[in-house]
Amino acid sequence: MDMVVAGYGEAAWASILDSAGLDDSVLIGAQPYPDEITFRLISAVAAKAGLTVDETLRSFGQYWIKAADAGPYANVMNILGGSLLESLENLDRMHASIQIAMPEARLPYFAVLEHDESRIKIAYHSTRQGLESFVTGLFEGLLNRFDKTGNVIFSGTKEDFSLFEISLSSDRS
Ligand code: HEM
Repeated sequence: MDMVVAGYGEAAWASILDSAGLDDSVLIGAQPYPDEITFRLISAVAAKAGLTVDETLRSFGQYWIKAADAGPYANVMNILGGSLLESLENLDRMHASIQIAMPEARLPYFAVLEHDESRIKIAYHSTRQGLESFVTGLFEGLLNRFDKTGNVIFSGTKEDFSLFEISLSSDRS
């Protein structure tokens, strides 16, 4: 909702809810809602913006990091890590601490496999399907957060894991 309202205004959000056959009530409050609703909304946003679902998920990932930094999650983002690598290495611990407060959450799993100055290889596992573009956008958002330039590539799957490679160019700072 925040991303749509920021980019297209309140009326656009109302029309997206309408085209997805939803109303706000299911999304308000801290109660979990079915993934089917999330995907219905993403599809409606994609149709409105003239983007594919994957492009929309990727934009949402980038937006999510900026919004987390600017909103009530700013402290959590700061505690997560002082560098890109540290943030990635701490992701699981941070998500695990959320599980206590949100027992119904189905949190993802990340593992840094290899890293050097020019690249980070990281594995992602989820009980959900089809969120790789969201993860790409989240990693891009983190690159941006740490003033890094680079590319994020989803390089395939191995067993239950989706593999990503973050290649780092020179520091912007
Ligand atoms: C303030 C920081 C963060 C908080 C509070 C947070 C919290 C959460 C919560 C509550 C969920 C929903 C789980 C559910 O309802 O089933 C979630 C999902 C997710 N989080 Fe985080 N998260 C944070 C940062 C990040 C970052 C930095 C990344 C990756 C770079 C990340 C990756 C994901 C992904 C990919 C999911 C989707 C769930 C799935 O894959 O099945 N999160 N997170």
